[in-house]
Amino acid sequence: MECKCRGSGYITKIVDGEEITTYCDCKMKEEIKRTLRKKYDKAGIPVDYWDLEIGRDYKNLTPTNIDSLKKINKYVLDLNKTIENGKVLYLYGDNNSGKTMIECCILKEAIKKDYSAKFITMAQLVNIAIQAMGKDDAPRNKLDELTKCDIVGIDDAFDTEKVYISDNGIQNAKMDDVFRTLVHNKKSIIVTANVNVDGISERFSKNIIELLKRKMESFQFTGRFYEHSTRS
Ligand SMILES: Nc1ncnc2c1ncn2[C@@H]1O[C@H](COP(=O)(O)OP(=O)(O)O)[C@@H](O)[C@H]1O
Ligand SMILES: [Mg+2]
Ligand SMILES: [Zn+2]
Repeated sequence: MECKCRGSGYITKIVDGEEITTYCDCKMKEEIKRTLRKKYDKAGIPVDYWDLEIGRDYKNLTPTNIDSLKKINKYVLDLNKTIENGKVLYLYGDNNSGKTMIECCILKEAIKKDYSAKFITMAQLVNIAIQAMGKDDAPRNKLDELTKCDIVGIDDAFDTEKVYISDNGIQNAKMDDVFRTLVHNKKSIIVTANVNVDGISERFSKNIIELLKRKMESFQFTGRFYEHSTRS
Protein backbone atom coordinates (compact mmCIF):
# COMPACT_ATOMS: atom_id res chain seq x y z
CA MET A 1 0.00 0.00 0.00
CA GLU A 2 1.33 3.41 -0.94
CA CYS A 3 1.95 5.90 1.85
CA LYS A 4 -0.02 9.11 2.11
CA CYS A 5 3.08 10.98 0.86
CA ARG A 6 2.96 8.81 -2.28
CA GLY A 7 6.55 7.78 -1.68
CA SER A 8 8.03 11.29 -1.77
CA GLY A 9 8.75 11.32 2.00
CA TYR A 10 7.23 14.79 2.36
CA ILE A 11 3.75 16.05 3.16
CA THR A 12 2.52 19.51 2.33
CA LYS A 13 -0.20 20.97 4.49
CA ILE A 14 -1.91 24.33 4.51
CA VAL A 15 -1.71 25.89 7.97
CA ASP A 16 -3.23 29.35 8.44
CA GLY A 17 -3.17 29.85 4.72
CA GLU A 18 0.54 28.99 4.56
CA GLU A 19 1.90 26.00 2.74
CA ILE A 20 4.05 23.94 5.10
CA THR A 21 6.12 20.96 4.04
CA THR A 22 7.07 18.37 6.67
CA TYR A 23 8.66 14.94 6.80
CA CYS A 24 6.16 12.13 6.43
CA ASP A 25 6.17 9.44 9.17
CA CYS A 26 7.64 6.97 6.70
CA LYS A 27 10.64 9.24 6.14
CA MET A 28 11.04 9.79 9.89
CA LYS A 29 11.17 6.02 10.37
CA GLU A 30 13.64 5.77 7.52
CA GLU A 31 15.86 8.41 9.16
CA ILE A 32 15.76 6.66 12.54
CA LYS A 33 16.65 3.38 10.84
CA ARG A 34 19.55 5.02 9.00
CA THR A 35 20.92 6.56 12.20
CA LEU A 36 20.62 3.24 14.03
CA ARG A 37 22.32 1.35 11.22
CA LYS A 38 25.27 3.73 11.43
CA LYS A 39 25.53 2.99 15.14
CA TYR A 40 25.29 -0.78 14.58
CA ASP A 41 28.09 -0.45 12.07
CA LYS A 42 30.24 1.54 14.47
CA ALA A 43 29.59 -1.06 17.17
CA GLY A 44 30.94 -3.74 14.84
CA ILE A 45 27.66 -5.67 14.59
CA PRO A 46 27.85 -7.78 11.40
CA VAL A 47 25.45 -6.55 8.69
CA ASP A 48 23.74 -9.94 8.51
CA TYR A 49 22.30 -9.35 11.96
CA TRP A 50 21.06 -5.76 11.55
CA ASP A 51 17.52 -6.66 10.56
CA LEU A 52 16.98 -9.83 12.58
CA GLU A 53 14.80 -9.64 15.66
CA ILE A 54 14.35 -11.95 18.62
CA GLY A 55 11.18 -13.95 18.33
CA ARG A 56 10.71 -13.55 14.60
CA ASP A 57 10.64 -16.57 12.28
CA TYR A 58 11.07 -19.10 15.07
CA LYS A 59 9.98 -22.63 14.33
CA ASN A 60 10.83 -26.02 15.78
CA LEU A 61 11.67 -24.59 19.17
CA THR A 62 12.89 -27.19 21.63
CA PRO A 63 12.00 -26.95 25.35
CA THR A 64 15.64 -25.96 26.01
CA ASN A 65 15.43 -23.10 23.54
CA ILE A 66 12.09 -21.90 24.88
CA ASP A 67 13.46 -21.94 28.40
CA SER A 68 16.61 -20.02 27.41
CA LEU A 69 14.68 -17.48 25.34
CA LYS A 70 12.24 -16.85 28.18
CA LYS A 71 15.05 -16.27 30.66
CA ILE A 72 17.01 -14.06 28.27
CA ASN A 73 13.90 -12.06 27.54
CA LYS A 74 13.80 -11.02 31.19
CA TYR A 75 17.26 -9.49 30.87
CA VAL A 76 16.33 -7.76 27.63
CA LEU A 77 13.08 -6.34 29.02
CA ASP A 78 15.02 -4.98 31.96
CA LEU A 79 18.10 -4.04 29.98
CA ASN A 80 18.88 -0.95 32.05
CA LYS A 81 19.22 -3.09 35.14
CA THR A 82 21.10 -5.83 33.28
CA ILE A 83 23.66 -3.32 32.05
CA GLU A 84 23.89 -1.35 35.25
CA ASN A 85 24.48 -4.55 37.23
CA GLY A 86 27.26 -5.56 34.86
CA LYS A 87 25.59 -8.88 34.13
CA VAL A 88 27.46 -11.54 32.14
CA LEU A 89 25.22 -13.56 29.83
CA TYR A 90 26.78 -16.80 28.60
CA LEU A 91 25.06 -18.24 25.53
CA TYR A 92 26.26 -21.68 24.55
CA GLY A 93 25.26 -24.53 22.30
CA ASP A 94 25.15 -25.87 18.77
CA ASN A 95 26.37 -24.06 15.71
CA ASN A 96 23.60 -22.23 13.88
CA SER A 97 21.30 -22.26 16.87
CA GLY A 98 21.04 -18.47 16.79
CA LYS A 99 23.44 -17.48 19.57
CA THR A 100 25.16 -14.69 17.66
CA MET A 101 21.77 -13.46 16.47
CA ILE A 102 20.52 -13.13 20.05
CA GLU A 103 23.77 -11.52 21.15
CA CYS A 104 23.46 -8.95 18.36
CA CYS A 105 19.79 -8.32 19.19
CA ILE A 106 20.70 -7.50 22.79
CA LEU A 107 23.50 -5.18 21.64
CA LYS A 108 21.07 -3.47 19.24
CA GLU A 109 18.55 -2.98 22.05
CA ALA A 110 21.30 -1.41 24.14
CA ILE A 111 22.22 0.91 21.26
CA LYS A 112 18.58 1.93 20.86
CA LYS A 113 18.66 2.87 24.53
CA ASP A 114 21.76 4.97 23.90
CA TYR A 115 24.23 2.71 25.67
CA SER A 116 27.63 2.24 24.07
CA ALA A 117 28.11 -1.26 22.73
CA LYS A 118 30.69 -3.31 20.85
CA PHE A 119 30.68 -6.67 19.12
CA ILE A 120 33.95 -8.55 18.70
CA THR A 121 34.97 -12.16 18.17
CA MET A 122 37.34 -13.59 20.74
CA ALA A 123 39.81 -14.30 17.91
CA GLN A 124 39.82 -10.60 17.02
CA LEU A 125 40.08 -9.63 20.65
CA VAL A 126 43.17 -11.81 21.08
CA ASN A 127 44.76 -10.34 17.95
CA ILE A 128 44.21 -6.78 19.07
CA ALA A 129 45.38 -7.56 22.59
CA ILE A 130 48.63 -9.01 21.22
CA GLN A 131 49.11 -6.07 18.81
CA ALA A 132 48.57 -3.70 21.72
CA MET A 133 51.91 -4.85 23.15
CA GLY A 134 53.67 -3.27 20.17
CA LYS A 135 54.58 0.31 19.31
CA ASP A 136 51.43 1.17 17.40
CA ASP A 137 48.85 3.16 19.37
CA ALA A 138 45.85 2.07 17.28
CA PRO A 139 45.29 -1.36 18.89
CA ARG A 140 45.70 0.11 22.37
CA ASN A 141 43.10 2.76 21.56
CA LYS A 142 40.77 0.07 20.26
CA LEU A 143 41.06 -1.91 23.49
CA ASP A 144 40.54 1.25 25.46
CA GLU A 145 37.37 2.03 23.56
CA LEU A 146 36.16 -1.55 24.01
CA THR A 147 36.66 -1.61 27.76
CA LYS A 148 34.83 1.71 28.13
CA CYS A 149 31.66 0.40 26.48
CA ASP A 150 28.57 -0.25 28.60
CA ILE A 151 28.03 -3.64 27.02
CA VAL A 152 30.40 -5.84 25.01
CA GLY A 153 29.52 -8.93 22.98
CA ILE A 154 32.35 -11.46 22.67
CA ASP A 155 31.50 -13.95 19.97
CA ASP A 156 32.80 -17.49 19.37
CA ALA A 157 34.61 -17.46 22.66
CA PHE A 158 36.71 -20.22 24.20
CA ASP A 159 36.83 -22.25 20.99
CA THR A 160 40.26 -23.80 20.41
CA GLU A 161 39.54 -24.07 16.69
CA LYS A 162 38.89 -20.36 16.40
CA VAL A 163 41.01 -18.74 19.08
CA TYR A 164 44.74 -19.40 19.04
CA ILE A 165 46.41 -19.79 22.42
CA SER A 166 50.15 -20.40 22.25
CA ASP A 167 51.97 -22.71 24.64
CA ASN A 168 53.24 -19.81 26.74
CA GLY A 169 49.65 -18.59 27.14
CA ILE A 170 50.48 -14.96 26.36
CA GLN A 171 47.00 -14.56 24.78
CA ASN A 172 45.42 -15.53 28.10
CA ALA A 173 47.44 -12.94 29.97
CA LYS A 174 46.36 -10.20 27.56
CA MET A 175 42.71 -11.27 27.58
CA ASP A 176 42.76 -11.51 31.35
CA ASP A 177 43.54 -7.81 31.45
CA VAL A 178 40.64 -6.93 29.15
CA PHE A 179 38.12 -9.09 31.03
CA ARG A 180 39.31 -7.84 34.40
CA THR A 181 38.93 -4.22 33.30
CA LEU A 182 35.41 -4.92 32.03
CA VAL A 183 34.25 -6.82 35.11
CA HIS A 184 35.84 -4.45 37.62
CA ASN A 185 34.15 -1.50 35.94
CA LYS A 186 30.79 -3.29 36.08
CA LYS A 187 30.45 -3.58 32.34
CA SER A 188 27.95 -6.00 30.92
CA ILE A 189 29.28 -8.84 28.74
CA ILE A 190 27.58 -11.29 26.42
CA VAL A 191 29.65 -14.33 25.59
CA THR A 192 28.74 -16.90 22.95
CA ALA A 193 30.46 -20.27 22.93
CA ASN A 194 29.91 -23.78 21.71
CA VAL A 195 30.60 -25.37 25.08
CA ASN A 196 29.16 -25.17 28.56
CA VAL A 197 31.28 -23.02 30.85
CA ASP A 198 32.51 -26.10 32.72
CA GLY A 199 33.57 -27.72 29.46
CA ILE A 200 35.89 -24.91 28.34
CA SER A 201 39.29 -26.19 27.18
CA GLU A 202 42.17 -26.16 29.63
CA ARG A 203 44.08 -23.96 27.20
CA PHE A 204 41.97 -21.01 28.32
CA SER A 205 42.73 -19.27 31.58
CA LYS A 206 40.85 -20.57 34.62
CA ASN A 207 41.16 -17.08 36.10
CA ILE A 208 39.15 -15.51 33.29
CA ILE A 209 36.44 -18.14 33.61
CA GLU A 210 36.24 -17.76 37.39
CA LEU A 211 36.08 -13.98 36.99
CA LEU A 212 33.18 -14.19 34.54
CA LYS A 213 31.36 -16.83 36.59
CA ARG A 214 30.81 -14.35 39.43
CA LYS A 215 28.33 -12.35 37.36
CA MET A 216 27.33 -15.02 34.92
CA GLU A 217 24.11 -16.65 33.91
CA SER A 218 24.19 -19.42 31.29
CA PHE A 219 21.67 -20.16 28.56
CA GLN A 220 21.75 -23.21 26.35
CA PHE A 221 20.64 -23.37 22.72
CA THR A 222 20.16 -26.46 20.61
CA GLY A 223 19.58 -27.28 16.96
CA ARG A 224 18.43 -24.83 14.37
CA PHE A 225 15.25 -23.39 15.76
CA TYR A 226 14.21 -20.83 13.23
CA GLU A 227 13.35 -20.98 9.60
CA HIS A 228 13.92 -18.28 7.04
CA SER A 229 10.57 -16.75 6.20
CA THR A 230 11.74 -16.34 2.60
CA ARG A 231 12.62 -20.00 2.21
CA SER A 232 11.17 -21.55 -0.90
N1 LIG B 1 15.26 -15.43 14.02
C1 LIG B 1 15.95 -15.61 12.89
N2 LIG B 1 15.37 -15.37 11.70
C2 LIG B 1 16.06 -15.55 10.54
N3 LIG B 1 17.33 -15.94 10.48
C3 LIG B 1 17.97 -16.20 11.61
C4 LIG B 1 17.32 -16.05 12.88
N4 LIG B 1 18.19 -16.41 13.84
C5 LIG B 1 19.33 -16.73 13.19
N5 LIG B 1 19.20 -16.60 11.86
C6 LIG B 1 20.24 -16.89 10.84
O1 LIG B 1 20.73 -18.17 11.08
C7 LIG B 1 22.13 -18.24 10.96
C8 LIG B 1 22.72 -18.83 12.22
O2 LIG B 1 22.46 -17.98 13.34
P1 LIG B 1 23.62 -17.56 14.31
O3 LIG B 1 23.08 -16.62 15.30
O4 LIG B 1 24.78 -17.07 13.52
O5 LIG B 1 23.96 -18.97 14.99
P2 LIG B 1 25.16 -19.37 15.99
O6 LIG B 1 25.84 -18.12 16.45
O7 LIG B 1 24.48 -20.10 17.11
O8 LIG B 1 26.05 -20.26 15.21
C9 LIG B 1 22.59 -16.83 10.67
O9 LIG B 1 22.92 -16.74 9.31
C10 LIG B 1 21.42 -15.95 10.97
O10 LIG B 1 21.36 -14.90 10.05
MG1 LIG C 1 27.80 -17.55 16.22
ZN1 LIG D 1 5.21 8.56 3.55
